[in-house]
Amino acid sequence: MTSLLTGVVLILLSVVGIVSAGTDFTGDVLRLPSEAYKFFHGGDNDEVEGTRWAVLIAGSNGYWNYRHQADVCHAYQVLRNGGLKEENIIVFMYDDIAYNEENPRQGIIINSPHGNDVYNGVPKDYTGENVTVDNFFAAILGNKSAITGGSGKVVDSGPNDHIFIFYSDHGGAGVLGMPSPPDLFADDLIDVLKKKHAMGTYKSLVFYLEACESGSIFEGLLPEGLNIYATTASNAIESSWGTYCPGEYPSPPPEYETCLGDLYSVSWMEDRFSKD
Ligand SMILES: *[C@@H]1O[C@H](CO)[C@@H](O)[C@H](O)[C@H]1NC(C)=O
Ligand SMILES: *[C@@H]1O[C@H](CO)[C@@H](O)[C@H](O)[C@H]1NC(C)=O
Repeated sequence: MTSLLTGVVLILLSVVGIVSAGTDFTGDVLRLPSEAYKFFHGGDNDEVEGTRWAVLIAGSNGYWNYRHQADVCHAYQVLRNGGLKEENIIVFMYDDIAYNEENPRQGIIINSPHGNDVYNGVPKDYTGENVTVDNFFAAILGNKSAITGGSGKVVDSGPNDHIFIFYSDHGGAGVLGMPSPPDLFADDLIDVLKKKHAMGTYKSLVFYLEACESGSIFEGLLPEGLNIYATTASNAIESSWGTYCPGEYPSPPPEYETCLGDLYSVSWMEDRFSKD
């Protein structure tokens, strides 16, 4: 399966709205593409009609992957601050970090060295064994009857609604990790997005993807005309980068032996906050 993208020519797909942020760790602030900007600032004016929905998913588990669930929790707080309602944000995370025995601050998750707790208030829609590809796809498609376990919350969207999907984890060519098998394959994800579009249940969809080689998920696969704006942390062959890692600058507080965030994710979230 992982060979499905072998031989894909790396063409720039700016035409279909793909923006690769690359591995720009020179300190430049990542600018939100205008569609994403509109999504986050929709509450400020009448520009965005309809309901704003979000699906947030951390594809990993284990304390050494702290940063992925920290990214997702932080994203949840950013979206709530941006005016989204809890009922419209669906969270997938294994939830083995906050009370992990290795976590120096029990019950707390931070996403930056001086950051506040981002765990408090995050809904446990799909945790543990319920974080699955099938549930993720069913949630996007708004298909409650296809959900197994969890809260049953799905994107029950209509034609004027706006959807934001954020995924954070490890990836490879054409594949994204999940805490339990099977992994998430690019072609299946694209099929789900095409299906969602065919259902006519969104006006725009913004997809933020933080994973190594994340460009490979969309490049050459995502058709034009779906009103999907996908931005990825890396192109099809690059790594994405953890940040606030021990031994690096800035480092996490000394009691943390794990990275607190991913560079691309914290850039858009911290950028979002800086505009408040
Ligand atoms: C929802 O999921 C069920 C079970 O997988 C499937 O039979 C049904 O066709 C799906 N409905 C839609 C509208 O996709
Ligand atoms: C999975 O979902 C079911 C049904 O909501 C729940 O009873 C179970 O505790 C969940 N499992 C985990 C690990 O959260």
